[in-house]
Amino acid sequence: MHSNTFYRTHTCGELRMQSVGTTVTLSGWMHRSRDLGGMTFIDLRDRHGITQLVFNMESNAALCEMARKLGREFVICASGVVTERSSKNAQLPTGDIEIIVDKLEILNAAELPPFTMDDETDGGEELRMRYRYLDLRRPQMQQRLMLRANMLKAVREYLDAEGFVEVETPNLIKSTPEGARDFLVPSRMQPGLFYALPQSPQILKQLLMVSGMDRYYQIAKCFRDEDLRGDRQPEFTQIDCEMSFVRQEDVWNMFEGMTKHVFKKVKNIDLPDFIRLPYRDAMKYYGSDKPDLRFDCKIQDLNAVVGGSEFGVFNNVLASNGLVAGIVAKGCSEYSRKQIDELTEFVKAPQRGAGGLIYIKFSQDGSVKSSMDKFFTPEQLMAIGESVGAGKGDLLVIVADKEKKTRKVLGDLRLEMAKRENWIDKNAWSVFWVVDMPLFEPDEETGEPIFAHHPFCSPHPDDFQYMDSDPLRVRAQSYDMVMNGNEILSGSIRIHNKELQEKIFKILGFSEEEKERRFGFMVNAFKYGAPPHGGCAFGFDRWVMLMAGGDTIRDVIPFPKNNNGRDMMMDAPGEVDNDQLRIVGVKLL
Ligand code: AMO
Repeated sequence: MHSNTFYRTHTCGELRMQSVGTTVTLSGWMHRSRDLGGMTFIDLRDRHGITQLVFNMESNAALCEMARKLGREFVICASGVVTERSSKNAQLPTGDIEIIVDKLEILNAAELPPFTMDDETDGGEELRMRYRYLDLRRPQMQQRLMLRANMLKAVREYLDAEGFVEVETPNLIKSTPEGARDFLVPSRMQPGLFYALPQSPQILKQLLMVSGMDRYYQIAKCFRDEDLRGDRQPEFTQIDCEMSFVRQEDVWNMFEGMTKHVFKKVKNIDLPDFIRLPYRDAMKYYGSDKPDLRFDCKIQDLNAVVGGSEFGVFNNVLASNGLVAGIVAKGCSEYSRKQIDELTEFVKAPQRGAGGLIYIKFSQDGSVKSSMDKFFTPEQLMAIGESVGAGKGDLLVIVADKEKKTRKVLGDLRLEMAKRENWIDKNAWSVFWVVDMPLFEPDEETGEPIFAHHPFCSPHPDDFQYMDSDPLRVRAQSYDMVMNGNEILSGSIRIHNKELQEKIFKILGFSEEEKERRFGFMVNAFKYGAPPHGGCAFGFDRWVMLMAGGDTIRDVIPFPKNNNGRDMMMDAPGEVDNDQLRIVGVKLL
């Protein structure tokens, strides 16, 4: 048994020169060992850092032998005197000192782990997901979890100071209206009936406003059964907020303030004031509702300057009210055939589906080369270039198609060019609002209006007039926050008026029966004095991912699912036995 009363007097990241000469006890994991014959050095690791332990054959042979036999990831407790190192390690915060160990206890042996506990580990993602508890021992992962916690701390600090009350809402509820598929939970007590897990606490937070809670927030788990990507998990975290007696401006100021507070607290970064980019401009200039504004390169319309030639592609598009538009790639005039071919493949890929890519190269020597040389004179090409600010050394790439597709394809191409040409400063932050989002969007199959965000968003007062005649033209009082090209928040001013809510349900084509079944309790609640209210929800995992410099939200979720929705560590979802199914009244197909 170890003679010390305590497992540790210090953490492994704590000791500095001031402690030289004192006796200390540390506990942690055997990270690495070096055996130099007479001396054995061990890096002892815990969440706080690494401290070097020294064992000397001459002064204590038995202890040194014991140290030599320690395997990787053994849990040990060591005591000894803090000593100044003869060769210091400037890379390590504790690198000026080491511990000359005189007592050592193995607290727990460990099997050889399947990968190393380093940031540059030798384990692939699948292996690391399977042994997530070991993956989380890597310093980088520990820092990410700590960052996450620090951000939440700053969020709570801000919201608390602003008078928000944290309220928990249930997870076993009824289907919510975010538009994804629900996860269902069978009821044992009422066989044949199901709870749905919340896609968000949307309805409940609105009801809390009816209750008079005034300012609410919740760090809420949300569940959506949708196809997964790097920025989507079936189970994710929102910072969900709602406020009474507010207009859009109040919500924007409040959550711009919160975002700035978190950046300052956690990264000591002062974010500039956020611009408010109308949705229509975002789509027009960047072909995206979440543009990355860390670089410029706007989409430029060319319809006005490309008419009157014999070029059939343009003429057809112009005749059918389509759009010819392009982006100027500064300094790319010398792109090779191969590079242009790659860009062409990019725009023609099935998910984009452009017919092709047209280019004009404005060479440094003043000459101009284009894939439509046959139809335009060099002077005409120059004039097109001038109209969009393309000069010597630049490449203008052009797409001609239906307007929506042209903008979407060029929006993607803009990002692709930024990647190829390193236009993005990795240390830059671009955070802003996209405002005036549409209230409805056309259903892809039927063309009928469906809600763009959720059916409780209030229409823009200036657009009430189009509500019956042209619903797709109606803007909502709804907004997103965009961070480095990612949507990290959505929100809106809600409808608090019963008649207007009924009208929206009608435009959305909800039958009386469906309305009653899905939202009856809410419509009912709104009869009893709902205050004007609005709010938003941050996609917290995405925000943490960006702050941590991760590639996917899996990097910042402690125990994530893989892209097939599997928890590789627990091996979930898993089979259940027939008895369990019988109890909940479920029969498998
Ligand atoms: P929305 O559905 O836009 O709005 O969600 C809000 C934010 O949550 C994040 N998000 C996700 N993050 C990870 N995985 C997912 N599957 C996922 N889905 C969404 C995004 C998004 O911006 N109730 C409304 C909010 C409101 O109006 O107050 C809502 O849930 O960052």
